Amino acid sequence: MNASFLSILRQIPTLFRHTVSLAWHADPWALVVVAVAQLGQAAATAFGLLATNRVLVSLFAAGPTADRVREALPSLLWVAAASAFAATLRAVSFAATGRLGPKVERLAGLSMMEQVIRVEMEHIERSDFHAALDSGQHGQTAARRLIEHTLGIVEALMALIAVSGVLAVLHPVLLPLLVAVVVPKAWGTVRAARRTYESVQIWLEHVRQQGALRRLLISQRAAPELRVHGAGPFLLDQFDQMAAQAADEQTRLAHLEARTELATSALSGLTAGATYAVLGWLLTHGQLPLAAGATAALALTSGTAGLRRMVTHIHHLYEQSLFMNDLIRAREEARRRAIPATGAPVPEPPEVIAFDRVTFRYPERAAPALDDVSLTIRKGQVVALVGANGSGKTTLSKLLAGLYLPTSGTVSWDGTDLRALRRDDVFAHVALVLQNFKQWPFTARANVAISRPDAIHDTARLDAAAAYADAHSVLADLPHGWDTLCEKGYEGGVDLSGGQWQRVALARAYFRDADILICDEPTSSMDPAAEIDAFHKIRALASKDQTIVLVTHRLHSVKEADVIYVLDEGRLVEHGDFATLMSADGPQVFRRLFELQSHQYRTDTLDGVPAQRIRSRDAMPDQSPAAGTTG
Ligand SMILES: Nc1ncnc2c1ncn2[C@@H]1O[C@H](COP(=O)(O)OP(=O)(O)OP(=O)(O)O)[C@@H](O)[C@H]1O
Ligand SMILES: [Mg+2]
Repeated sequence: MNASFLSILRQIPTLFRHTVSLAWHADPWALVVVAVAQLGQAAATAFGLLATNRVLVSLFAAGPTADRVREALPSLLWVAAASAFAATLRAVSFAATGRLGPKVERLAGLSMMEQVIRVEMEHIERSDFHAALDSGQHGQTAARRLIEHTLGIVEALMALIAVSGVLAVLHPVLLPLLVAVVVPKAWGTVRAARRTYESVQIWLEHVRQQGALRRLLISQRAAPELRVHGAGPFLLDQFDQMAAQAADEQTRLAHLEARTELATSALSGLTAGATYAVLGWLLTHGQLPLAAGATAALALTSGTAGLRRMVTHIHHLYEQSLFMNDLIRAREEARRRAIPATGAPVPEPPEVIAFDRVTFRYPERAAPALDDVSLTIRKGQVVALVGANGSGKTTLSKLLAGLYLPTSGTVSWDGTDLRALRRDDVFAHVALVLQNFKQWPFTARANVAISRPDAIHDTARLDAAAAYADAHSVLADLPHGWDTLCEKGYEGGVDLSGGQWQRVALARAYFRDADILICDEPTSSMDPAAEIDAFHKIRALASKDQTIVLVTHRLHSVKEADVIYVLDEGRLVEHGDFATLMSADGPQVFRRLFELQSHQYRTDTLDGVPAQRIRSRDAMPDQSPAAGTTG
């Protein structure tokens, strides 16, 4: 946004239109009430000034004082009535503005979030987009303040028109004088607004990082390491340094503002002095009767106050509009990066999902996470993805779910490129247990039912999901069963163990009842019995025609998979069923990994005593107290 003084003045009508349209959408009635109340106030102001003039004319007339006061009395009553009327309307307008503001804020926030929740995963992970979203957050409160300041401007403008009308009747030269008093002030306030906004923009990343640190310092998840590893004082020191830098910036702004304020006040003072000198000249040269002069002085005081109010409101309007502009920009960016709502429908679960020479590169990463991968997944199959850390299993699962689109190559569902399909339909066929699945800070019920929120009150379905994932024992321990809050730090909140959370995640995926179930390390925290049971149940779903994609490092559990895909540094290096991959004349990667793992199990147990303990005792004889005394 161009920020020069004149350009701001030019932008005011647009800002005004934008704000009024926002308010109209939020609450048309409140807007009408405010408009009427403000018109009424302006009329009351003008009427009050004219009545004041009549009071003064009566008081300055010839004759005994008692008669003059008596003469002035009816006009005085009119002044009082006008003032009471204006006060009542001010209250009405205040109440309606109070009603309008929060609604506008809600509408502005909603309009942004509606777009944000549809943004492609790839973009939601980008730092530039996140910075734009953070700037946009300021726009929510800005929307509310925009309304308040726009209405403030209208109110001040109305009052000014009323005062100007009266001044013009008294003497035309008084009008430009009124404006001259306020111009320096206007210039100063706009300058300050621009400085504040520029500072906020430059310091945005700083503020974001400071916010992240603040959250970490009070986070429950970070608390153990913060204490045991001594990370607390370290982070606190960083936080304090950042706070000190921010404080310096605030001081710099305050000093600049004080300087501008001083300069503009001096100029305003000079113009005010000149104005009253002109008024004095008009009176002494008989250009203006004494009563009219007094009214003019009153009108000038009230007029300059109105103008100052208007300038202050314009300053804030401008400042807030810059933030509002950020919100609009973030919203537009989100809309531009959104998952398209259109595409070919996917009414049935796919018979075949095919990856054809798929390469995928994360933004800001040079090496591809998936490199020229071709594979097929058929309906009802159990497909296993195995490979070392970072080999691309999770990435592949996310492409399969339609969360990412390939950088090159295609993922197709029954021959149609994923790009051409309606993505909401694609998602509708998928249930996920992600490696970093979300532990929602909600009740146990919501944690399971969030995969299909419309069925949240279907307790039978919830129970079936819990039974499937063996989560009944977890629920039985919770103080309020399904309705226990699974987040510490809130009233009645509890935390679950790692394995218990995984059961909840599995129950969530089952509750969704989708055609394709993607499980990425679904049992990594489960005890051996639970793990065996979970794998058995996951595989059993395939017999109900569900397609299962299982990512795991537990190679024993993929024995029964229809096909195993082995990834290595993003490339698909082997595939086939277990027997094929294990045959001596076949490829070797899977076999070597499998044998390494099973060898570990075989040699790690000797007559039920973990071999590790035997070895470590044998390996360190010198460190025993006995060895110390003899050696
Ligand atoms: N969101 C992301 N942004 C950038 N790079 C990523 C992202 N997620 C993963 N990567 C990178 O992509 C590569 C593949 O990661 P991926 O998570 O798919 O591996 P994985 O096979 O699931 O590993 P693990 O067994 O450790 O879960 C890695 O080099 C990883 O660092
Ligand atoms: Mg992974």
